[in-house]
Amino acid sequence: MSFIRIRPAVMDDIDMIIAINVECLPEHYPLSFWMEHLKKWGDIFYVAEVDNEIVGYVLSRIEEGRSHFKGSYIKMGHIISIAVREKFRRKGIATYMILTLLNSLKTIHRAEEAFLEVRISNEPAVKLYEKLGFTVIKRLTQYYLDGEDALLMAKTL
Ligand code: ACO
Repeated sequence: MSFIRIRPAVMDDIDMIIAINVECLPEHYPLSFWMEHLKKWGDIFYVAEVDNEIVGYVLSRIEEGRSHFKGSYIKMGHIISIAVREKFRRKGIATYMILTLLNSLKTIHRAEEAFLEVRISNEPAVKLYEKLGFTVIKRLTQYYLDGEDALLMAKTL
């Protein structure tokens, strides 16, 4: 039986996180981006390990802005990037990472909402977010560099 663990990312994980990002997603970032997020938002940046091997990550940050559901200005968790290596998908690992993250956004940072952008064609991710209670707020036309639209999805914490 495999042992799955979600834990905060540390500096030594960055190379593996970048490798998983490159393997799984078309949106890539320079090393400085990952390091900066780790320094600033290390308590809302998680990795998933299976038998001590990193197989996924979720990266987020705190932003302030207008609520997606009401008029007020609030603190929100912005989920920037999440990926799970193909071999380890459909085992609940992304769900486990996001639930851990949402709990930290709420309890550590007092965020009132979480939001994210996702490619309109990315059915697995849209289904995952819907299952976790995110709703589509709006479509962002040509959000990605290749011209694809995004869905902006959000959830009250
Ligand atoms: N088809 C349909 N529904 C799916 C699929 C799929 N391929 N994958 C997940 N889901 C839905 C299902 O409802 C699933 O529940 P079920 O298995 O009981 O039916 C639910 O999501 C939960 O699935 P998990 O097992 O928790 O998700 P997983 O660990 O497989 O990771 C992820 C999902 C992160 C989207 C993975 O497929 C992946 O890494 N994809 C490539 C990277 C990516 O697209 N990342 C998201 C980009 S958007 C952003 O980063 C903000």
